[in-house]
Amino acid sequence: MNNSSIKELLPVKDSFNRRIDYLRISITDKCNLKCVYCVSSKELKYFNNAEIMTDEEIVRFVRIAHKHGLRKVRITGGEPLLRKNIISLISSIKEIGINNLSLTTNGIMLAELAGDLKKAGLDRVNISLDTMNAGRYKEITKKGDINRVWESIKAAERVGLSPVKINMVPIRGINDDEILSFASLTFKKDYHIRFIEFMPVTSNGMWRREKCVSSKEIMGIISRLGGLESFKFRGEGPSRNYRIKGAVGVIGIISPISDHFCKSCNRLRLTSNGKIRPCLFSKDEVDIKTPMRNGADDEDIERLFLYTISIKPERHKLDENIAVADHIKNMSKIGG
Ligand code: GTP
Ligand code: 5AD
Repeated sequence: MNNSSIKELLPVKDSFNRRIDYLRISITDKCNLKCVYCVSSKELKYFNNAEIMTDEEIVRFVRIAHKHGLRKVRITGGEPLLRKNIISLISSIKEIGINNLSLTTNGIMLAELAGDLKKAGLDRVNISLDTMNAGRYKEITKKGDINRVWESIKAAERVGLSPVKINMVPIRGINDDEILSFASLTFKKDYHIRFIEFMPVTSNGMWRREKCVSSKEIMGIISRLGGLESFKFRGEGPSRNYRIKGAVGVIGIISPISDHFCKSCNRLRLTSNGKIRPCLFSKDEVDIKTPMRNGADDEDIERLFLYTISIKPERHKLDENIAVADHIKNMSKIGG
């Protein structure tokens, strides 16, 4: 490899000296569940097919970003497994040279696809599961069958989509009484159980400060199970990781509200309709789909990528003012 190609592979730094090497790609805004805390109660308007980025457009963008040091890609939705040709899309992204390729899913359709996803080059999955009670699962998701999620978790383990990470959003009065049982799973299984603070990103009025269980409180509850040892305290993602003494799995704590992780933020988002967003809460978005469809060459797209990095804000201010999330009506559209 000559010097210039080595230089190209170094991740680009933003104005705050953060290396941006992680892209979260939402490949559909549709979801097969309607979780109460994620989807607005108002009728959802989805993008029509022509508005959604094609496989070729997504792959082209990843290839361009990879030339600037992109190393990690996460596929999100909506529910990403609803997208047709998901297997070939994964394999095309992997072929570019993305070593760390993961996907966040609700696990309803993963059991059938896990083997093919692994073969296509997917490295691991994060599965959303907010309760272990079948009736409650149906209430939270509006229609989901929890057995399918357990099947998916087992399939992910079996085919080696690991470590299997499970995302749980504790909401006071809804599922906060299950924090201990989720944490206890780590005694038997090497899962990463990640507790995420409930963020004010729904337009259905469900979010209230008092419903958000803080990380501090979550840690207090979990420590009843034994001492918590730091475990690679902060990995590549936002979660602070611990292991309960004697456990095999990992506890992850994600605190977007009480302890934002913006200082180490390394990510951009690509929305399903082709806009790059420099921060989950940004109002600014940079359209790449329209230029691509109007014949932009790779250098033009490269400039838009670098421009987005240059406008990445220092931090979100969710801890000071929850209204910064007002414009995000549905987390389900941006994929967390
Ligand atoms: P890994 O640790 O690599 O598995 O990645 P991850 O933690 O980024 O993956 P995941 O998609 O499971 O993210 C977990 C949750 O953290 C998301 O669903 C969001 O709720 C939250 N999160 C992820 N990225 C951001 C971010 O940039 N800002 C904020 N505020 N929250 C985020
Ligand atoms: N607060 C915190 N996390 C959320 N997610 C969805 N909505 C919220 C919210 N309001 C998480 C889901 C899923 C991921 C994609 O985003 O639990 O794991």
